[in-house]
Amino acid sequence: MNITQRDLSVPNDWDRSGLPAWSYHSDAFLELEKEHLFRTHWQIAGHISDMPEPGDYLAFDAFGERALVVRGQDGVVRAFHNICRHRGGRLVADDHGTCRNALICPFHGWVYNLDGTLRGAARPRSFPDLDKNEFGLIEIEAEIWMGFIFVRFRKGPQPSVATLMQPFEEEITPYRTAEMVPADGIWTQTSPVNWKSVRDVDNEGYHVAMAHPALQDLYGSTYYDEPFINGVCRAFGSYDDHSGRRWSVRNYLNIAPKPDHLPEGLRCAWVYYGLFPNAVIAVTPELVQFYQEFPLSTGESLLRGAVYRYADESRETAAARYLAQRIDRETMEEDVQLTVWSNESMLSEAFAGFYLSDLEYGVRTHHDHLREVLPVLNLEEAPDEREMAGINRRMADSSSC
Ligand SMILES: [Fe+2]
Repeated sequence: MNITQRDLSVPNDWDRSGLPAWSYHSDAFLELEKEHLFRTHWQIAGHISDMPEPGDYLAFDAFGERALVVRGQDGVVRAFHNICRHRGGRLVADDHGTCRNALICPFHGWVYNLDGTLRGAARPRSFPDLDKNEFGLIEIEAEIWMGFIFVRFRKGPQPSVATLMQPFEEEITPYRTAEMVPADGIWTQTSPVNWKSVRDVDNEGYHVAMAHPALQDLYGSTYYDEPFINGVCRAFGSYDDHSGRRWSVRNYLNIAPKPDHLPEGLRCAWVYYGLFPNAVIAVTPELVQFYQEFPLSTGESLLRGAVYRYADESRETAAARYLAQRIDRETMEEDVQLTVWSNESMLSEAFAGFYLSDLEYGVRTHHDHLREVLPVLNLEEAPDEREMAGINRRMADSSSC
């Protein structure tokens, strides 16, 4: 497969340190992250099956922006800022729903077509003539890949999602993820940590043996992480017919499907595909899911994700999926605790930075990607908050010369 063409080796002599601790608690740096990372990099909005009919929509708030993804009368999925052109009203208040054939701002009643063009203002004679396109909703770039809807608030350094994820395309295709349907809808949860602490824990499996008894029981030493290369990474764990020690794992192993539509090597495997900077798509034989984290502040993140299942799943597959999700939920709760401890340690003057194992090379390569976008991260000492943006700009300018 194509993925074997990637250079997955860990260099002999690599820098085992992580990002400077100040970058996890700096308000000025968070503003740079919003500007240069979140607004300009692809974010997962959801899946096409979350909004199958014309008028169905998904909405989410993140890093100061409000996204609204709507399926038009023509069936096309489009993304917009959830902002009325009159006075910035929120066109939809819920995170998902259906509108009949128009979006109506609840503030003064401006009406938009599902393709974003303005249908009309309330009391139109109180305005000069309004151009329907000029006063249409502001469109956001959207791309659908394998059924997942990605949005990007502003063009940035990344190519298309299809180009980024190309190394994994052949491997993911047999799962037919575009045909799947929502299992339970999109979930959200807040966590009292910087978003990078969430990613730092998720980007390595070195901690699995110690911190995740269920995952260890399921795939144990078969698990490995690959580094971030060109904005994407992959992790893989497989299992055999051993008898699990934990109730959920033992039962999962007994009933997990080994579907014919998957190649041999994926029939007993959980695979995770990371997309820089903050998203993961994961597959098991019975489901696909995504999860991501958005910064709410330097010390709080919004975790968001969803599970999708086969529309025609058998009772056994449904039961296996339930158990897989249960194992996942346990893992996530364990991770949340680890991220809290890791994140708060960075406020201590005794914290001397990460010293990473070869098994945590994925963390380092994610940090390297971050340094490339935000070179101010190369400074060990925290810059003055008021100087942060200027220093970062000068460092970026000098590195591009
Ligand atoms: Fe973990």
